Amino acid sequence: MKAIVVYLSTSGNTKAMAEAIAKGIEAMHVDVKAVSFYDAKPEELKEADAIAVGSSTFYYKMLPPMEKFMSETLAGIKPAGKVGAAFGSYGWSGEAPIVIAEQMREMGMHVIDPVLRILHKPTDKDLQECKRLGVDMAETLKQQVKPA
Ligand SMILES: Cc1cc2nc3c(=O)[nH]c(=O)nc-3n(C[C@H](O)[C@H](O)[C@H](O)COP(=O)(O)O)c2cc1C
Repeated sequence: MKAIVVYLSTSGNTKAMAEAIAKGIEAMHVDVKAVSFYDAKPEELKEADAIAVGSSTFYYKMLPPMEKFMSETLAGIKPAGKVGAAFGSYGWSGEAPIVIAEQMREMGMHVIDPVLRILHKPTDKDLQECKRLGVDMAETLKQQVKPA
């Protein structure tokens, strides 16, 4: 089983969330890496059974390169059936993670709750919540592949 956590982060807030989510996944003995969306290769996304995508919000939406990642790179690997999670740091409105979750669902992914949004720089408590999301992703993944 493999997972990947992909993020866009301008000042490190969403990146810190991504790394904590990856720690939670790793704690459940699932192979995982956290990468900037610039470095996420389609092959790696295809191989992953679970994909978390995070973005901070700018001008009430995702930045255009992240929109392109969603509509071309992620949609392009046809991720239907994979476990998904959406997250991101925000300042006041926080639309990006909500849109990511919506788009993942439209692609047929099994998006787990919650869509995790953290105000500004994550605190230690926030990072624990991120780690918990990673654990939940790994648990969902393990349940999916469990024989009947
Ligand atoms: C130019 C600019 C525009 C922003 N627009 C929004 C916005 O529309 N809504 C919002 O919730 N936060 C907005 N923010 C706040 C960022 O989402 C917030 O600072 C976030 O913590 C950045 O996380 P990052 O370091 O992962 O990129 C904006 C920040 C900047 C600098």
